[in-house]
This record gives sequence, structure tokens and C-alpha cells, in this order.
Amino acid sequence: MKVSNRISQITAGGHDGWDVFYRARRMVSAGHTVTELTIGEHDTRTDISILRAMDHSARNGHTGYAMVPGTDQLRDMVAARTEAQTGVPTTRDNVLITPGGQSALFAAHMALCDPGDVGLYIDPYYATYPGTIRGVGAHARPVQAQAKHSFQPRAEDIEAAADGAVSLLINSPNNPTGVVYSHETLEAIAGACKRRDLWLISDEVYDTQVWEGEHISPRALSDMAERTLVVGSMSKSHAMTGSRCGWVIGPEEVIAHLINLATHTTYGVPGFIQDAACFALNAGPELEAGIAAPFRRRRALAMEILSKQNTITLVPAQGAMYLMLDIRATGLSGEDFANALLDNHAIAVMPGESFGRAAAGHIRVAMTVEDARFSQALQTLCDFAASQTKHSAAE
Ligand SMILES: Cc1ncc(COP(=O)(O)O)c(C=O)c1O
Repeated sequence: MKVSNRISQITAGGHDGWDVFYRARRMVSAGHTVTELTIGEHDTRTDISILRAMDHSARNGHTGYAMVPGTDQLRDMVAARTEAQTGVPTTRDNVLITPGGQSALFAAHMALCDPGDVGLYIDPYYATYPGTIRGVGAHARPVQAQAKHSFQPRAEDIEAAADGAVSLLINSPNNPTGVVYSHETLEAIAGACKRRDLWLISDEVYDTQVWEGEHISPRALSDMAERTLVVGSMSKSHAMTGSRCGWVIGPEEVIAHLINLATHTTYGVPGFIQDAACFALNAGPELEAGIAAPFRRRRALAMEILSKQNTITLVPAQGAMYLMLDIRATGLSGEDFANALLDNHAIAVMPGESFGRAAAGHIRVAMTVEDARFSQALQTLCDFAASQTKHSAAE
């Protein structure tokens, strides 16, 4: 029996760029010790105080159907947080609570793109982006942010790709590059959206992980709140990846449609999860800073190690839990480098090519193992890169 074209095209078939990741996982299952610097998951678990709040809520009966748009309390808290960040008046009617940021990304595209429309996204990109756009029946079209521009997207590249497009998906702080979009970049993106009449979908799930510069939501820019949907999540900010709690923030009319979508898809997010999210957001910036602290620390360790070599160039590591390393001086592709590093040193990193063509010749390192092991792995990686350079020079 045939399934729909729409669903079979989500992955578009072929090579998905995750071979190194799966190979590392198989090695671990077979009993090998592998340092996995691959996926974006904290090495700490959800804080016990948040789990207690979840437990308390569930035991007090918040286990039935919750309000589909989200509880009033959580929607109000997300709205207040956004208003404080952007200065744009925001109420619960601007907020839909979703089962995680991924579901919010899908819902946002569902609200904006008709089948056959083009949804733009910036390359390098988070792995699910093109599939999410294809999942709503739209064509996913990449716009390259180039290494030579420190992976900051440019208005002219967006506009050159905009024929037939209705939306543009951006992500800052960025996965995979670790770059935080500057005010100038965001103004340029906003200008391109206005000139080409595009919706902007701004994925801000790493907004609490900023090491350099400042996180600016495009919702804060002039005349952008009416054409922007912001995607947020508790996953990265509060180490609640498994709780599946995120949101979409946008104009009231769009949120009203998204509530209809939620009624016919997810039917909301469990009440005890939302109560735990309220507790976590209420705990304030110290809790968030504590969750971000290991990545801040490891970034500093990495910068120290990388400063003592000259084979690898670090892409400005301004935010999020990743480092993007330019390994083109070794003469290897990101994929060959990652495979050889896994084979020779049992260290798993993601090839840049897994995140699009713009990141070819790079590797992404997730800073998700404890400090001493992280430093040792990075030192080994640098030594390996240097040995490859000598090797290719001798050939
Ligand atoms: C850029 C980006 N957006 C969205 C997500 C989805 O996060 P979640 O669905 O856990 O909220 C991730 C997860 O890694 C991500 O890196």
C-alpha cells in the first residue's frame, strides 16, 4: 500500500549525514569506550527541584487533559518573559504551548506554508529543518550562510533565493555553528523579509546560552512582531529535553489557528509537565545560568587548547553548546576527518556536511562530556588534525 508523498518525502531518502553518530553508538553498544561529542544533550539531568514540582503536580491530580493552548499560568509566564526580552506587549493570546520546540517548528510551518510554497532555511542548519518544511508539503530551499562571513546570513543571499518563498527559518544562537546573529545581521534579515514579504520563523531554543554578544529576538525589531513566529523550548535552557515542553509566540490570529491545529494533532502538553515548566521559569536566571555553566566553562577550556595550535580555526563560539571547527587545513572533508577520528581515537564528532553544504570542511563538537574528558578529547583532536596536515604536506 502506498503512503502519502508528503510523508515519504520528509527525509528525502539517501544519505542523512548521521553515519558517524550511529557508528559511534554501535561501538558503545559493542562495549567500546567512545567519547561522544555528537548530539545536543546536556550531560546533567533535569534538576531535582523541577522533578519534585512535576511529582507534586501529578500527585495533586494534574494528570488529566490539560488546556489545549497551554495552562493560563504557563502561557502568562512565557508571555511575560518574552515581553521583558523584547519590549513588545505580549499576552497569553500570543502564546501556544507545544510538546517541545520541534513540534513548534512544525506547527509554525503548518500555519504559514501551503503545499507547493517555498520555505527558506539557513544552511548550516539543525538537522530536522528541511524535513520539517517538507513535512507540511512545502519545498525546503537552503540559503547559505558562508564561512567567510562567519556564518552570519546576508540579506542579498536571502532575497536572491526568495522567489516563491513565504517563510524564512533562522536560528540564533545557532546550532550547529555556535554563532550568535548580530544586531546588524538581524536588521538585514528583517529588511529582506519586509522587502520580499516573508514570514520569519525565529528558533530561539538556545537563548539562555550566550557567551559573547547578546541574544536579540527579531520580534523586538521594528514592525517585525506582526510577521515573526518565535519558537522556544524548555529543553536546552532547563535541561528538560525529555519533558517535551516548548512554545510558539506570534500574532494572535496565527496563534488562534495554531490552537485549532493543536486540537487536531497533539491535544496539548501534560499538565504536570507545564506545572514543572512554570516552577522552572519561576526559579529565575540562576537556575538557567547553572545549566549553561558547564558549556561556558568548556568553551573557555577549548579556546585555551585551540590557542596553542594553528591547524584548526574556531568559528566564533558565541553561544549554544557546540563548537564549529574549520579543519580544511588538514585537506580532509569533515566526514573523512570525523570517521578517521572515530577509528583512530574513539572520539565521535559530527561532520559539518551533516548540517548542509555551507559547513563542508568543518566539524561540530558538542561540549557535552565532563570537563577533564572534554579537554583531553579536544587535545587529541588537535594533535590528530596536526598529524593529518603533516601527512598531507608530505604527500
Ligand atoms: C536549533 C534547534 N531547534 C530546535 C530543537 C528542538 O528542541 P526540542 O524539540 O527538544 O525543544 C533543537 C534540538 O536539538 C535544536 O538544536
